[in-house]
Amino acid sequence: MQLSVRHKLQNGLLHIESAFDRPFGSAWNPLRQMGTLSFFYFWIVAATGIYVYILFDTTVGSAYQSVEAMTHSPWHLNGIIRSLHRYASDAMVVTMALHLSREFIMDRYRDVRWFTWFTGVPIIWLLFISGISGYWLVWDMLAQYVAIGSMEWIDWLGIFGEPVASNFVTPESLTDRFFTLLVFMHIFGPLFLLFVMWIHVMRVSQPKLNPPRGLALGSLAMFVVLAIAWPATSHAPADLAVMPTELNLDWFYMMLYPVFDVWGAGPLWILGVGLSIIVAAMPWLPPLKRPKPAEVHLEKCNGCSRCYADCPFGAISMEPRSDGLPFEREAVVDASHCTSCGICVGSCPVSTPFRNDEELVTGIDMPDFGFKAMRGKAIKLAEKVGPDGVLVVGCDHGVDIKSITGTGVAGLSLPCIGMLPPSFIDFAMSRGGVAGVLITGCQECDCFARLGNRWIEERIAGVRDPYLRARVDRRRLGVFWASRVEQRALKAEIERFRDQIKALPGSEAGT
Ligand code: HEM
Ligand code: SF4
Ligand code: SF4
Repeated sequence: MQLSVRHKLQNGLLHIESAFDRPFGSAWNPLRQMGTLSFFYFWIVAATGIYVYILFDTTVGSAYQSVEAMTHSPWHLNGIIRSLHRYASDAMVVTMALHLSREFIMDRYRDVRWFTWFTGVPIIWLLFISGISGYWLVWDMLAQYVAIGSMEWIDWLGIFGEPVASNFVTPESLTDRFFTLLVFMHIFGPLFLLFVMWIHVMRVSQPKLNPPRGLALGSLAMFVVLAIAWPATSHAPADLAVMPTELNLDWFYMMLYPVFDVWGAGPLWILGVGLSIIVAAMPWLPPLKRPKPAEVHLEKCNGCSRCYADCPFGAISMEPRSDGLPFEREAVVDASHCTSCGICVGSCPVSTPFRNDEELVTGIDMPDFGFKAMRGKAIKLAEKVGPDGVLVVGCDHGVDIKSITGTGVAGLSLPCIGMLPPSFIDFAMSRGGVAGVLITGCQECDCFARLGNRWIEERIAGVRDPYLRARVDRRRLGVFWASRVEQRALKAEIERFRDQIKALPGSEAGT
């Protein structure tokens, strides 16, 4: 895909998300929580599934009646649970599709992230296998249509000696034993899905698995309302002597069945497997070119492990000391996991710009745009805007910093805002540097490097090392998260921030 097309897609998505920020707030914006919501819906499906299974009869003759009994139970309580099971499963298809589209559009699937993307592909198959096998168990006309279609599709492969679809030829040919096998598929499918979901986030450091509480409760309430207003029902009972005619398909899981009716099994296998191979190969189409990975300067590393704790991609390990210095451990970077975000530079206590030594070497640094270059640039910018000016420090994935610079405002863009050591803020403001520092970068819960904006907030608040010294005047420090398309909002905030500084006692306008 051409970069410009991706940029247009990204801008479109960011505009839509920005519109959602107004009613939901950025931390609760559901469009940025599709992965966590998928997890949450899985738990709803699992809990309601256990309940429904207790009331379910696993024999061919009584399965349908047991589901009907649930649907028409007193107070509809069991029917509501059945409906919750169905609606949360449907919602999982939607959230998963939006989640994977978003990771693709925002270019968060290539290079180091290939593993998470790649393991997402079996998740798609397993989710569909789990959902579709659930429909078989109702054993109504829809189940009959879907079960026969699925078995014919599998039979095309010719891997089973006898066609599996032959179990559905006459009412007598479908045995309780075979039906129990279908029930097992619906239990083991979701269990395996959970296992692959766990593998999916295995290489993500400190993954966020739960949505914000309000969003979780809100969507649960939405399912309950849907379940009461529009309870899930069954079709007429299955009858293998009759061909189903009118069916209400669940389009979330069954959109391919009408295609199967028209195309047949072979082309549908080619479509499914072909698409999966293309999607799985996407992280390398084309491979991402990124700056060089982080490098440890052992002579400066004291083994404090802050970089290890902060790296969002688990690229750093703490190993026994190899250079004889009197520390127990040293940081080691695994280049194949490093995204070159620079967050570790902001974590390292040695990254202090107050030092005067020529070399200005820190414990861990970025070879392409390192700590020394960052300091040099900040000094030049401070000289340019003067002691009444404002230094805006942003990131390469947020608002284009060049676009907001002007009289009295200078901008410094970093690979990620998490690369900024807090002592830099102190440095920029002290010794007649600038009047204020405004921190910006990707929207809340949407840091391109996952954790950069969270770490800098915690460092400023003094709850994460290395923290910003108490002597820094917080009235001269602003934090404003804005996505790339929220340039106007950022400009307005810069103006407001400058007015705030001017009004302070001791400032030109405030005195
Ligand atoms: C049930 C389905 C899925 C669930 C529950 C799920 C959940 C998650 C979660 C919790 C994360 C970590 C978020 C974070 O803390 O940064 C994540 C990341 C990711 N997911 Fe999924 N996911 C699902 C399906 C998929 C699929 C089908 C794909 C693509 C084929 C996919 C692609 C990705 C990618 C590329 C990331 C990495 C993002 C990053 O490194 O910033 N996911 N997913
Ligand atoms: S640059 Fe980013 S990904 Fe690489 S080691 Fe540092 S924190 Fe980890
Ligand atoms: S943060 Fe710096 S000093 Fe601490 S372990 Fe990492 S490189 Fe070494």
